[in-house]
Amino acid sequence: MKNAAVITYGCQMNVNESAKIKKILQNMGYNITDDISEADAVFLNTCTVREGAATQIYGKLGELKWIKEERGTIIGVTGCFAQEQGDALAKKFPMIDIVMGNQNIGKIPSAIEKIETGDLKHVIYVGDEDELPPRLDADFDSKKVASIPIGYGCNNFCTYCIVPYVRGRERSVPLLQIVDEVRVFVEKGYKEIMLLGQNVNSYGNDLDTDDNFAKLLTEICKIDGEFIVRFISPHPKDFADDVIDVIAKEEKIAKAIHLPLQSGSTRILKAMNRKYTQDEYIALAEKIKVRVPGVALTADIIVGFPGETEEDFLETLKVVEKIGFESAYMFMYSIRKGTVAATMDGQIDEKIKKERIYRLIELQNKKSKESSLKYEGNIEKVLVEGPSKKNDDVLTGRTSTNKIVLFEGDKDLEGTFVDIKINECKTWSLYGEIVGQ
Ligand code: 5AD
Ligand code: SF4
Repeated sequence: MKNAAVITYGCQMNVNESAKIKKILQNMGYNITDDISEADAVFLNTCTVREGAATQIYGKLGELKWIKEERGTIIGVTGCFAQEQGDALAKKFPMIDIVMGNQNIGKIPSAIEKIETGDLKHVIYVGDEDELPPRLDADFDSKKVASIPIGYGCNNFCTYCIVPYVRGRERSVPLLQIVDEVRVFVEKGYKEIMLLGQNVNSYGNDLDTDDNFAKLLTEICKIDGEFIVRFISPHPKDFADDVIDVIAKEEKIAKAIHLPLQSGSTRILKAMNRKYTQDEYIALAEKIKVRVPGVALTADIIVGFPGETEEDFLETLKVVEKIGFESAYMFMYSIRKGTVAATMDGQIDEKIKKERIYRLIELQNKKSKESSLKYEGNIEKVLVEGPSKKNDDVLTGRTSTNKIVLFEGDKDLEGTFVDIKINECKTWSLYGEIVGQ
């Protein structure tokens, strides 16, 4: 039997697309392995959203060189970096057999065949971004958590971001199709459904129906069964009141909202083309907190955007202090060639970016710890994900607010919801005991 490995970089959309690549390879007769040294085909599903991604991919290709020489392993590179680089990538690394954008992954079988029969030395597919990618079956690592893209691409053109250039314009998947797919996953036993999109709350804008994100959530919640719905990422500028109402009302929707801030400075937000001010962001976050009691807010934050002064950075710290995110993904701005910000004046010195990110991380860690303490004594409904990595006798799961919880219990509880009394709160995880099933 032939083995294949899929290595994933980047966001949840890539995780989803890797699950589909795995399924395609399985259907071709490959066994999926994590051990690249025994793989006959290796796919790197890449990201290009920040600079570090390319270095990581080059490092991995270096590692794969001897396997290619020894076993003749087929090397494929998919995802946003492949999409961005196209032919140039195969020219730079002749060891790569296949370069493919993720909307083309349905063509993996024919690409492998062309390489195996020697019809083509390299297969490069990075086009067709106007069409919806095929809806393919997926093999998720967890049998309990599934993800579903509700739309592809982005129309926002935030000035730092490469995504609209590599993933194309926004294309929403028809509502009934998404609802059907959720139903199938729930029937198969999945307990958590993650809806994915570059900008989920502008869902439907490109459709010629009046379907929108609030309606999609409402329809999904009508599906019978016990399951939880999450979504990433909404854009603050598109967060309509009806979406907040649905989140507040529907028990099936997780009380966790990722609300990318990017910067707390209105001046920098304008330069980023984010289309909201500091005041508008704070007002939205406060409104969500009032209408959805106990909600956990998280964010993405960039430091060192071109022209960011110490005063601008202090505005970011101010918002972080005020909102109290449960956690945040924090990044140093990195230049992406082809974006508007790449050629802006006032690029910030790496030393200053580092100094700012350390200060931001320090504040956020303090806020994460504070928000964790709020759980002490609570009874939380938790989806059991399985034994913890470190200790087989301890189970791990997540609250509706996406907080990790560790507790003792029988392995058979995997995939069920249990009530946990929280006894101890550390910054990143909670510890408790089962009080109900
Ligand atoms: N530099 C740093 N961070 C970036 N992000 C996107 N583009 C860049 C960039 N050029 C971050 C944003 C986005 C997250 C997915 O990655 O915070 O929300
Ligand atoms: Fe990039 Fe902005 Fe679109 Fe998000 S909303 S993918 S940051 S352009």
